[in-house]
Amino acid sequence: MKTLIHLALAIVAVAALVAAPGAKAQDDAPVELTAEEDHRRMLDLLGLEALRPGRNGMDPEADNYANYDEATSNPYPDLPPLMITDAGDTVTTPAIWEDVRRPELIDLFSSEIYGYAPEATPSVTWEVVSEHEEMVAGVPAIIRDYAGRVDNRAWPAIDVTIDMTLTLPADADGPVPAIVSFVFRFPADFQPPAGWEPPSPSATERILSRGWAHAELVPTTVQADNGAGLTSGIIGLVNKGQPRDADDWGALRAWAWGASRVLDAFETMDEIDASRVAIEGLSRYGKAALVTMAYDERFAAAFSGSSGEAGASLYRRDNGEVLENVASSGEYHWMAGNFLRYAADPLGWDDLPIDAHSLVALSAPRPLFVGTGKAEEGDAWVDPVGIFMATKAASPAWELYGAGSMPDIDFPGEKVEVGEGAIVFRQQEGGHSNHLNWESFLDFAEREWIAR
Ligand code: GCU
Repeated sequence: MKTLIHLALAIVAVAALVAAPGAKAQDDAPVELTAEEDHRRMLDLLGLEALRPGRNGMDPEADNYANYDEATSNPYPDLPPLMITDAGDTVTTPAIWEDVRRPELIDLFSSEIYGYAPEATPSVTWEVVSEHEEMVAGVPAIIRDYAGRVDNRAWPAIDVTIDMTLTLPADADGPVPAIVSFVFRFPADFQPPAGWEPPSPSATERILSRGWAHAELVPTTVQADNGAGLTSGIIGLVNKGQPRDADDWGALRAWAWGASRVLDAFETMDEIDASRVAIEGLSRYGKAALVTMAYDERFAAAFSGSSGEAGASLYRRDNGEVLENVASSGEYHWMAGNFLRYAADPLGWDDLPIDAHSLVALSAPRPLFVGTGKAEEGDAWVDPVGIFMATKAASPAWELYGAGSMPDIDFPGEKVEVGEGAIVFRQQEGGHSNHLNWESFLDFAEREWIAR
């Protein structure tokens, strides 16, 4: 599945380079740079000569092959404090968390990792482009395709139209909870490898069986998943086709912004209970799900799967992918330029004033389901143990509210959901996919949202 996703992403990236996005007037067309050129431009802007190389995840013979030895995976065992404010006060009440510590952490994530979104962003008008009825998992459903048209009057040469498909139970007797998924979109001519079958039941089938709605948001229609696209999409639109400053937002925040616009639409719809909307994603989109929760407190739950580096796995761990991997020209666009400083001497992992536990904690006290696959089944790269450690270290944020807690154990092992209340971790028995965790997540959401 992972190879499939990567192949598809490579094709999308090439397609994006060939078709110059929506340029009407030549003079206003976005600046065109390859990812390598834009990455180099950002290093120059930051006064950085070169970045340290990442780990090789493919070739066990390579000198820089990823480390998978638990004994040497923790070169920096001490994490930056979560529950101590910059002024040195311990966070003892929800009010101190909400008024002081949480804003401090949000600001650190913006300045050091994900970048600042502009204070004002253009509005989105959601237009129904098609609608039909269909049975989904035996449930009569309405399937609606939306085009989210982003107001581009300030820079008409850049067009941003967000694709989202909403599947609703047709016979609901009131507003229903909804799950918003960040979905990978394969190009129309993409041929999956022989024998590959889509996971069954699908997420939509599982969600509809519960009587809930499922929104599938295509993040790459908000912001391309490559550095060459940073002068278009929502980031390019607000920058009027110019390349980013060092603290401008990256794709993860842009994708999260897109999810927030879906929630805006839900707030105006009678069919959806906007107070019970969750965000879900795998891998890069598992990172985006955590970022969405951090920056938009209206989201009422999340399912973040196999999120890895720049998601829930600890930057201070040396296991699987490392900070330098996501800082490379293939992935740096997920974050702000400023993040690259930590991949260049003299700064290193241990200089980050925050770590992944701080990101996880920004979901508190709302229900958060943190998932991974099994290292032996192909999910080693994301460092499942590091993800568990970050989730455990984030537990005090839920404990503060009496909303949940994580057990003080080393690692639970596969198919064991751990955590009390609104924070849980579960490693499913397969590889890099959310499929085998979906049912557990939906049980969790149902328990937290409805049975409580
Ligand atoms: C790469 C990357 C990960 C990312 C993954 C994905 O493997 O290093 O950080 O999560 O791609 O999104 O598939």
